[in-house]
Amino acid sequence: MDLLASLREGTAVEHQALEDQLDLMNPALDHERYRLLLSGFLGFVEPYERALQRWCPEPQRDLIDGRLKTATLVADLQALGFSGEQIDALPRDAEPGDMHERAGWFGRFYVMEGSTLGGRVIGPHVAKTLGLQDGVGNAYFLGHGARTGSMWKAFRERLQNSLEPAEHEAAVAAARACFSGLGHWFERALPASVASAP
Ligand code: HEM
Repeated sequence: MDLLASLREGTAVEHQALEDQLDLMNPALDHERYRLLLSGFLGFVEPYERALQRWCPEPQRDLIDGRLKTATLVADLQALGFSGEQIDALPRDAEPGDMHERAGWFGRFYVMEGSTLGGRVIGPHVAKTLGLQDGVGNAYFLGHGARTGSMWKAFRERLQNSLEPAEHEAAVAAARACFSGLGHWFERALPASVASAP
């Protein structure tokens, strides 16, 4: 099986669990729940992106450029009414795990970058349900906008061309750990009413 198929199949259960837990596609999504969820996203996206930059294998520097989302998330939170002090005070201590081997780095980056695909359905749903102007409060979920498809294709090609078959298992294990780490982060970081779907 090719690496992308292994990653998708190997994390399908964890992805579904996260979708169910966050329940972002619920037609009854309200502002309060969305604000809490988005503040929870900042708490893991920021430390993950810092770790991705820190452990970036030298030949992959260009892959990171233009894919980081922390600033977009902060802008969304501001658009939703968070003050600078409130944003600074948000917890962002999710544990990104070991990325010093490139398989672990790529496996985790796959999860972060792949989330732009789900964003193509989440972003418009959030704007419609909450009455947001597109890109103002939901920009994180709009991913790379019209370039999301081509950016994902380029990412996939790089991933597939960079890892040896012997590293595939470690990449899948890292992706799985990343997904379940996110689930635990949301359980810990958010009030019980939000951490699990209503
Ligand atoms: C919470 C609600 C979520 C929904 C409704 C959702 C939905 C989706 C959908 C529809 C796709 C497939 C899109 C396509 O093939 O064009 C997808 C792919 C993906 N999503 Fe999510 N997603 C959610 C959350 C997340 C989160 C929080 C992450 C990680 C931070 C994530 C990571 C991924 C990855 C890695 C893929 C790529 C799978 C692959 O094709 O290899 N998703 N998601």
